[in-house]
Amino acid sequence: MLTNKRILLIIGGGIAAYKSLDLIRRLRDQGASVTPVLTRAAEEFVTPLSASALAAQKVYRDLFDLTDEAEMGHIELSRAADLVVVAPATADLMAKMAGGLANDLASTLLMATDKRVLIAPAMNVRMWEHPATQRNLATLKGDGVLVVGPDEGNMACGEFGPGRMSEVPDIVAAVGAALGDGPLKGKHVLVTSGPTHEPIDPVRYIANRSSGAQGTALAAALRDLGAKVTFVTGPANVPPPAGVNVVRVESAGDMAAAVDAAPQADAAVFAAAVADWRVLNASGSKMKKDGSGKAPALEFGENPDILATVSKRTQGRPRLVVGFAAETDDVVENATSKRKRKGCDWIVANDVSPGTGIMGGDQNKIVLISDDGAEEWPRMGKDEVARRLAQRIADALAG
Ligand code: CTP
Repeated sequence: MLTNKRILLIIGGGIAAYKSLDLIRRLRDQGASVTPVLTRAAEEFVTPLSASALAAQKVYRDLFDLTDEAEMGHIELSRAADLVVVAPATADLMAKMAGGLANDLASTLLMATDKRVLIAPAMNVRMWEHPATQRNLATLKGDGVLVVGPDEGNMACGEFGPGRMSEVPDIVAAVGAALGDGPLKGKHVLVTSGPTHEPIDPVRYIANRSSGAQGTALAAALRDLGAKVTFVTGPANVPPPAGVNVVRVESAGDMAAAVDAAPQADAAVFAAAVADWRVLNASGSKMKKDGSGKAPALEFGENPDILATVSKRTQGRPRLVVGFAAETDDVVENATSKRKRKGCDWIVANDVSPGTGIMGGDQNKIVLISDDGAEEWPRMGKDEVARRLAQRIADALAG
């Protein structure tokens, strides 16, 4: 419930603006009050009168409306809310936000606010995928702006792909999470992610192809459900999500130490691709060719198994321990025996054979293995896998 929460809803000028009228109703159903702000372009899609009628509030439209300044200045308007929601967030609005422009009421409010901002992007697929939009998105995320969607599907413009505004219930859920009201409120979840680097000498290391994308998406999804997240990450290709406690590590040994040092968790998810071996005779200075043509002999020692260690803790074991299994053959059989061997509650198994494009890609196809057997999920985006897994974790901790 969003009882007594005050939402400042900025409606941008896109066809998805019609969904924002429903969003006003659904937020009010949850007990929130909604103050709508319409951009000029938004008024081409929905009328101020409908927004005002549904919100049962005055609609704000113009920066230079002196009557409004007398009633409530734009600074005050931006601060009186608990959360600022931008839906639909058009490519233009996102660019203005990323660039710090303040040349109309909506962009000025977004610059002036001291509250969290949640955007629900909506635009044509090409506009979404344009490097400028992706750059702006990365900037906004870096600034701590929360993002819900966009979804993938048929678009009003006749094209197909990511760019559709999230459905209203998903936006309402994201609002709840942004206000710390999700089902994981008060829970602490530990997530490991990314590859590890095992040094050979100061300039060389042994690594693997994990990008860290799935673990990062999972940490973000858990945060969005209200969890406090400790995110222990190896050197990944993707930046860690905002709003989580990030612990950066390099080697498996560092990762094991960081996991040991983390506060007691309700659930722990081990999505990292940890090196099984480290180089025992790693050199403190750069190894040189000695001219003999003989390659140096590296000696390997086994790394600590972090997942197995935490699963088998007799004290302080998280209630739910989830491992990942990256397999190239006999995925379900191998992952099922891995679950037993490691003593974890669930294994998220995926086929990382080169043909699947999963390792380093945006999509994932997983099998969730638990006491209830093996559950095969359809291929979907790593973000969607993360959202569903986070919800499952919330359900398990609630039970
Ligand atoms: N894992 C871990 N510590 C290690 C190795 C693996 O915590 N030293 C975790 C991974 O984060 C993952 C799970 O164990 O959740 C399985 O990792 P995977 O690489 O698939 O399994 P391995 O134990 O390395 O087994 P194998 O190499 O035989 O497939």
